[in-house]
Amino acid sequence: MSHTLAVLISGNGSNLQAIIDAIAEQRLNAHIAVVLSNNTTATGLGRAIKAGIPTITLDHRCWPDRESFDQEMIRELDRFAPDTLVLAGFMRILSGHFVGHYQGRLLNIHPSLLPRHRGLHTHRQALAAGDTEHGCSVHFVTEELDGGPVIAQSRISVSANDTEQTLSERVQAREHVLYPRVLQWRAEGRLSLKPQGVTLDDQILPTEGVRDAG
Ligand code: GAR
Repeated sequence: MSHTLAVLISGNGSNLQAIIDAIAEQRLNAHIAVVLSNNTTATGLGRAIKAGIPTITLDHRCWPDRESFDQEMIRELDRFAPDTLVLAGFMRILSGHFVGHYQGRLLNIHPSLLPRHRGLHTHRQALAAGDTEHGCSVHFVTEELDGGPVIAQSRISVSANDTEQTLSERVQAREHVLYPRVLQWRAEGRLSLKPQGVTLDDQILPTEGVRDAG
């Protein structure tokens, strides 16, 4: 049986598309059992439908609080028995219960070289800080926002001409290479979250993860 993914999105879904393409091109030996969106108008839903992937839309505004919404997501997602949950531009903070339920199976991609620039507007943050390097990180999700242990990063150099827009485009291009690659490690059973840290082929990774993986 191939590795079962559930992908969570809120918007454009270009990372979802990169994962769909990697599976189609057999760079990633996995299948996407379901795509869940909290945004009923997410462009990524159309990408899933076009690829024949079941979709679930849960508008978080219909639940009274984060806990009850997250409990409903768990109920829906567990029907598909996902081996790995893939946050791909899922722009909601997750409850401790949700994160704990999927501990060690929950991955996120973030548009910065963590631990630098957590939160939103990371390209603006990198420019404001005068960074000469920028990039993206894939990490295991823990309760700390954008604070979970890093698995891998891809870096770009920042030039004087760069703007938020150019950085966003260049970083996203790297995301689309990095995420499928990391997911293939998961699919091959090589990547785990252990009490002592992230392991790839039973080796504990440094805090920055695999440095130039995408
Ligand atoms: C991606 O750039 C991802 O790194 C970012 O949202 C974008 C989603 O794009 N995620 C975060 O900022 C999470 N903190 P996409 O919908 O086209 O994949």
